[in-house]
Amino acid sequence: MDCFTFGALKLENLSTCILAIESSCDETSASVCVDGKILSNFIANQTVHEKYGGVVPELASRAHMQNIVPVVDAALKEALPQLPTPNARLQTIDAIAFTQAPGLIGSLLVGTQFAKSLSLSLDKPLIAVHHMQAHVLANLIGEEKPEFPFLCLTVSGGHTQIVLAKSPLELEVIGETIDDAAGEAFDKSAKLLGLPYPGGPLIDKYAKEGDPRKFKFAEPQIPELNFSFSGLKTSVLYFLQKQEPSFIQKNLKDLCASIQYTIVHILLTKLKKAVLQTGVKSVCIAGGVSANSGLRTGLIEMGEKQGWETFIPKFEYCTDNAAMIAVTAYYKYLAGEFSTLDAGPSARAEW
Ligand code: KG4
Ligand code: ZN
Repeated sequence: MDCFTFGALKLENLSTCILAIESSCDETSASVCVDGKILSNFIANQTVHEKYGGVVPELASRAHMQNIVPVVDAALKEALPQLPTPNARLQTIDAIAFTQAPGLIGSLLVGTQFAKSLSLSLDKPLIAVHHMQAHVLANLIGEEKPEFPFLCLTVSGGHTQIVLAKSPLELEVIGETIDDAAGEAFDKSAKLLGLPYPGGPLIDKYAKEGDPRKFKFAEPQIPELNFSFSGLKTSVLYFLQKQEPSFIQKNLKDLCASIQYTIVHILLTKLKKAVLQTGVKSVCIAGGVSANSGLRTGLIEMGEKQGWETFIPKFEYCTDNAAMIAVTAYYKYLAGEFSTLDAGPSARAEW
């Protein structure tokens, strides 16, 4: 890109400006970063799924189709306000990044095709990003970031992993769930309590005023650094089936606090084991569930007690967002890891 001034940030000729697109599930997001520094991060949420109790893939793809142009336009405008037209802003971009996997295939297709079309028409390089790698690297956004190696507990609606990050592009999954993800445990428990989708943030909200020790739910004994959450949902279901009809209404806050306490306890117990096993004491969290206040506070308290250095992304970089795709793409750009135009999306993908 040429030399511009972005607020306090003076860009030299060698600066790298990346436009990133995230559309793996039900958030359409676009972000612009310059040399790894985020200049904009627009996220369009899809409320259409609420009444169905979960994300409806077909509706998600349609909403991405409607949102993607305005969201990309808004991200470019906010990042490059000194440039007069969309075309001038697009010409300034050095590479276009997109989430390739994993996710809902119809949702991923929208972002992938949009990014490939831009790459072809602008003749700019294309960078494919793994969504779970990006969640981990969300910890590199901002001033206070972990040094390598670090451990990251990545907890989202589809995944629960402990990752050993040796460098931005060398991430090793050392533990993961064998069934449900932590986000699913939150959402499915919330559904049993009659709360709308996504229930995770609502459990968090009610838990703040509840007693976390009031009710006890099953904690599975899973070997190594792996997790299991399907038993928790069953434990909550069987417990509720034994109660009076008005029980949930009367005990909602305590139920939420107790469910949250159990999930956070399972997560932090394994994280502690991972630190002991690896000797790595720099510990991060990432993914939608890292927005949970119980997990955030629990990590900080455990870090103080155990002598860990802890890192938590800002809220907007915890749930799905394109800023994390942009920052990951920046490291891939530096390493020369570009994609070709035949790169396709994948619902499931190994690292
Ligand atoms: O990372 P994310 O935005 O999307 C996926 O890649 O899955 O994670 C979404 C998940 C949902 O299960 C949602 O309920 C959960 O993150 N979540 C929370 C909170 N905010 C989002 N769970 C508990 N407490 C929260 N505050
Ligand atoms: Zn995610």
